Amino acid sequence: MSDSHLTFFSLSSSILALLLIFIFIFKRKQTKPKLNLPPGKMGWPFLGETIGYLKPYSATTIGEFMDQHIARYGKIYKSKLFGEPAIVSADAGLNRFILQNEGKLFECSYPRSIGGILGKWSMLVLVGDMHRDMRAISLNFLSHGRLRTHLLKEVENHTLLVLNSWKHNSTFSAQDEAKRFTFNLMAKHIMSLDPGNVETEKLKEEYVTFMKGVVSAPLNLPGTAYRRALKSRSTILKFIEGKMTERVRKMEEENESLEEDDLLGWVLKHSNLSTEQILDLVLSLLFAGHETSSVAIALAIYFLPGCPQAMEQLREEHSEIARTKKQAGEVELTWDDYKRMEFTQCVVNETLRLGNVVRYLHRKALKDVRYKGYDIPCGWKVLPVIAAVHLDPSLFDQPQQFNPWRWQINGRRGSCSSSNGSSSTINANNNNTTNNLFLPFGGGPRLCAGSELAKLEMAVFIHHLVLNYQWELADSDQPYVYPFVDFPKGLPITVQNHSYLS
Ligand code: HEM
Ligand SMILES: *[C@@H]1O[C@H](CO)[C@@H](O)[C@H](O)[C@H]1NC(C)=O
Ligand SMILES: *[C@@H]1O[C@H](CO)[C@@H](O)[C@H](O)[C@H]1NC(C)=O
Ligand SMILES: *[C@@H]1O[C@H](CO)[C@@H](O)[C@H](O)[C@H]1NC(C)=O
Ligand SMILES: *[C@@H]1O[C@H](CO)[C@@H](O)[C@H](O)[C@H]1NC(C)=O
Ligand SMILES: *[C@@H]1O[C@H](CO)[C@@H](O)[C@H](O)[C@H]1NC(C)=O
Ligand SMILES: *[C@@H]1O[C@H](CO)[C@@H](O)[C@H](O)[C@H]1NC(C)=O
Ligand SMILES: *[C@@H]1O[C@H](CO)[C@@H](O)[C@H](O)[C@H]1NC(C)=O
Ligand SMILES: *[C@@H]1O[C@H](CO)[C@@H](O)[C@H](O)[C@H]1NC(C)=O
Ligand SMILES: *[C@@H]1O[C@H](CO)[C@@H](O)[C@H](O)[C@H]1NC(C)=O
Repeated sequence: MSDSHLTFFSLSSSILALLLIFIFIFKRKQTKPKLNLPPGKMGWPFLGETIGYLKPYSATTIGEFMDQHIARYGKIYKSKLFGEPAIVSADAGLNRFILQNEGKLFECSYPRSIGGILGKWSMLVLVGDMHRDMRAISLNFLSHGRLRTHLLKEVENHTLLVLNSWKHNSTFSAQDEAKRFTFNLMAKHIMSLDPGNVETEKLKEEYVTFMKGVVSAPLNLPGTAYRRALKSRSTILKFIEGKMTERVRKMEEENESLEEDDLLGWVLKHSNLSTEQILDLVLSLLFAGHETSSVAIALAIYFLPGCPQAMEQLREEHSEIARTKKQAGEVELTWDDYKRMEFTQCVVNETLRLGNVVRYLHRKALKDVRYKGYDIPCGWKVLPVIAAVHLDPSLFDQPQQFNPWRWQINGRRGSCSSSNGSSSTINANNNNTTNNLFLPFGGGPRLCAGSELAKLEMAVFIHHLVLNYQWELADSDQPYVYPFVDFPKGLPITVQNHSYLS
């Protein structure tokens, strides 16, 4: 520690000394009215503790940085991250308070690099009225009604398309397959692109490059991931714009009779968004809708082989559903079938709780806020770490354990652990505080617009997966936080087709 201090000082001692003096004076001025800031340290000038905070770690843990900081300072601490003073919260109550007070005391505030790549009209970046309008459009498109009438069918269709291509006794990347599924689904639903089509495939490739830039350092220099992603962004936008022009022409020629029932058609017809706004909306929905849910599906594929009892109970539930359908002469899944997937919903929740697709959110304080005796100064960055609550041993019994039964209100219990501990198992549903504890989709006015779709995708995919395949991990791989969750080896699995329908 002191070694690296020394090296750093000797490199640029005079500049640093000056800086520190400035910061010192500035700080003294700022903190005149005695604020009770949470404990914590600000780290290096500019960088603060960002490097430690962003260091990759296993996705089923909160990482060394959080562990050490919580041990030293408690669940609410101050730091300097992404170039700004910040309050980090692993506290369930504060997290909920932050999300509920969006637009009043706190506001969504993602780093500038995200805006540069997703676009200034992206929903993650917008606040206020413009956010409300864009959100309304998205919600309309992901509504309960549309899930039942359109999306369920499409989700099943795209699930089968991917699963039917799996060859018996073959090995491949489960993460890539999950991506193929969610990307095809979103591309179809947003722009009516057909899977397997040359242009769909090209677009998917551009998205891989694009994704790498979203999370990279925002250095717009030749050769950087950020620069490549900006290039991908303009390629993708050009593509979407091409689709748009084509659609407008078609709508005019065929006087609206043959318009496709997708987001693009709806936005063109019913909103007066500018071209630039539509492009950013389509780009960011495609992004939000496929990156997250594909990781969630890969996580389920990763967790389940480690818990044979859960796999067995899933197979029971789904073959029962399949049996009654067969008797009734039905083929496609219906909404009622989906509602019968009760244990599956426990598996879905447990996957999201333990895997934590989205680790933390970016906010800033709009006013001076006081919470549990601590002051959060106006303008400071605020990072609610939703993952830390999900993995908190004081809230979830044996949080590192994949235990879907913790979500069961009553009914049969199971366990994947060799030790007992079932007597002290917290039933995640038995307390009204559960509202603050489990927030995989965020909360408040910015609650994930696609949460219901994501759960539907996971359940339908699991239905056909467990009924038709047996799988095992072909190579040791595990999810890491980069801070987006990713499997370094792509989660290679070997599958055996096997019909579990008797
Ligand atoms: C398991 C999968 C998913 C997870 C864990 C997830 C998580 C989240 C979270 C935590 C947020 C809040 C961000 C914030 O408050 O700063 C969010 C926002 C959003 N998500 Fe998801 N999401 C998932 C799937 C989807 C899907 C399938 C869609 C469909 C298009 C989607 C669309 C959106 C949109 C549009 C927003 C922005 C909402 C707003 O700002 O009002 N998400 N998501
Ligand atoms: C998916 O839908 C398309 C038409 O929309 C149909 O041709 C295809 O057979 C369906 N695939 C499956 C596996 O249901
Ligand atoms: C599966 O493939 C492996 C080699 O990849 C082979 O050794 C094995 O016999 C195959 N098993 C079956 C059931 O086809
Ligand atoms: C489309 O417009 C043409 C004339 O522009 C008209 O003859 C035709 O009936 C219209 N079709 C529909 C479905 O409205
Ligand atoms: C469309 O634009 C007009 C003026 O530009 C505005 O008054 C109106 O509210 C907008 N409509 C929608 C649906 O955004
Ligand atoms: C899963 O979590 C949601 C909260 O996101 C909760 O409303 C739901 O009841 C949970 N499902 C089960 C089966 O416990
Ligand atoms: C596990 O539970 C059984 C009975 O439910 C008990 O006999 C056994 O001692 C327990 N084992 C441990 C390690 O607690
Ligand atoms: C809810 O949880 C709290 C703390 O864990 C506990 O004190 C309280 O009794 C619980 N309430 C109910 C209704 O279970
Ligand atoms: C739980 O419910 C009780 C009574 O319904 C209420 O007084 C309490 O504030 C609730 N706790 C939380 C954390 O919501
Ligand atoms: C697996 O699928 C192939 C064709 O898709 C079929 O020939 C083979 O019999 C199946 N094996 C099992 C065990 O179902």
